[in-house]
Amino acid sequence: MFNLNIKVCCFLILAICVVISVTMCTIFLNLSVSMAPARTCNTSCRPFPDYCTPYLPQPTRGKQWHQWDCLSKDRLNEGKLNCSLMLKELHFITEPMSQEEKQFPLAFIITIHKELETFMRLLRAIYFPQNIYCIHVDAKVEESYKASVQQLANCFPNVFLSSISEVVTYAGFSRLQADLNCMKDLNTSQVPWKRVINLCGQDFPIKSNLELVRHLQSKAWRDTNMTPGIRQPSYMRYRTQRQYQEVAGLHTVSRGHGIYKTPPPHNIEIYFGTAYYALTRPFVRFVLEDRVAKDLLDWSRDTYSPDEHYWVTLNHLVDAPGSNPQGEWEGEIRTVKWSDQEGTQHNGCKGRYIRGICIYGLDDLQWIMDGNHMFANKFDSHLFPEALNCIELWHRHKVLQHAQVPVQPEWRIATDDNGVTAWQ
Ligand SMILES: *[C@@H]1O[C@H](CO)[C@@H](O)[C@H](O)[C@H]1NC(C)=O
Ligand SMILES: *[C@@H]1O[C@H](CO)[C@@H](O)[C@H](O)[C@H]1NC(C)=O
Ligand SMILES: *[C@@H]1O[C@H](CO)[C@@H](O)[C@H](O)[C@H]1NC(C)=O
Ligand SMILES: *[C@@H]1O[C@H](CO)[C@@H](O)[C@H](O)[C@H]1NC(C)=O
Repeated sequence: MFNLNIKVCCFLILAICVVISVTMCTIFLNLSVSMAPARTCNTSCRPFPDYCTPYLPQPTRGKQWHQWDCLSKDRLNEGKLNCSLMLKELHFITEPMSQEEKQFPLAFIITIHKELETFMRLLRAIYFPQNIYCIHVDAKVEESYKASVQQLANCFPNVFLSSISEVVTYAGFSRLQADLNCMKDLNTSQVPWKRVINLCGQDFPIKSNLELVRHLQSKAWRDTNMTPGIRQPSYMRYRTQRQYQEVAGLHTVSRGHGIYKTPPPHNIEIYFGTAYYALTRPFVRFVLEDRVAKDLLDWSRDTYSPDEHYWVTLNHLVDAPGSNPQGEWEGEIRTVKWSDQEGTQHNGCKGRYIRGICIYGLDDLQWIMDGNHMFANKFDSHLFPEALNCIELWHRHKVLQHAQVPVQPEWRIATDDNGVTAWQ
């Protein structure tokens, strides 16, 4: 009996010791992790991707490229974000790069629903303090995702989440409504923006901000909206001839057995084009307020992929501000490799086609860089991370080259041994 008691007692003491030491250890580890300066947490820092070397200038003789890029979406979930630290670590550019750009602020509408990290990389590529950014986060995403985007946006006076969010459905009206929600917010913004450009999370800029500004102020586009598209071809007629409805968050399907729609209001001729645009501010106000624009919007509610006819149709109205009634596909707004244009418009997809659109691989980059487009679609940081890594470094190099102010060291994503870029 006595023996047993001692055994039980010893066992209990031992057990308590183990529990205490495990707890102390956990607390200690927790503390040491959370108190450690962010920079020692090394795991998310990407080394310089050597496969990008062909796309960048030679580093200074005898030097090598280094990268300190500790971009981590997890950082956004670690309680309160230290904004000044985040801006430095993520290499955000914090000054207008030239007077010319300062005088021509741009507005961006970015619709996202996944890939926080890819979004952060897109934002830092296009972010400049003179511009303004409306982020539409899909209403169907997890709350934590939205909270992370909000936390990031809170670090900037000129980045905000749209005041209304839609559940966005592929090819549905909600896709159009998402842009309109942002436009309504941008219409009353104090920032004197000159053009609004829409982007999705899988776009990436090819032109620097200065090049964008110059392109949009060139003779052809100085007073004109850009909405690539043509008269609706007969093979696209089904989209606006019969009724469609969204299956919320999933897809858009034919309604009944193909119920016919009434013809468009005000005898408008329907055009067909891309969903991408660069629009003037008066045109945005026209879209929000004009009777014809509103009637066309209502009529478009039960059409298929209305964002591919709405902007381009309005922009062919003679009365719309900055309209382009004779316009077709021009503008170089987006480079996309469609699978059905292989061999005619491009040399094939080196990544992979998904839904008929190429997700770029590394070997697509030269083709993109040789072109003259404003943005490229689509990149995917999981499928082909190399392509995004290199286009990002190449683009930042170009942006810094175009700077007319002293370049701050934090703005560089890659540097050589001396902490400077060879390309300065
Ligand atoms: C350590 O941190 C984790 C999560 O951060 C928490 O769940 C756990 O309770 C913490 N442990 C102690 C002993 O504080
Ligand atoms: C980060 O990792 C690199 C190796 O990848 C190492 O040389 C460096 O000392 C580490 N920095 C810190 C602060 O831990
Ligand atoms: C945020 O980071 C900066 C370093 O960039 C540091 O000086 C500052 O103390 C930090 N602020 C807080 C509240 O931790
Ligand atoms: C658009 O902005 C103008 C100027 O601030 C304002 O007068 C107008 O009411 C706004 N329109 C809408 C639909 O919000």
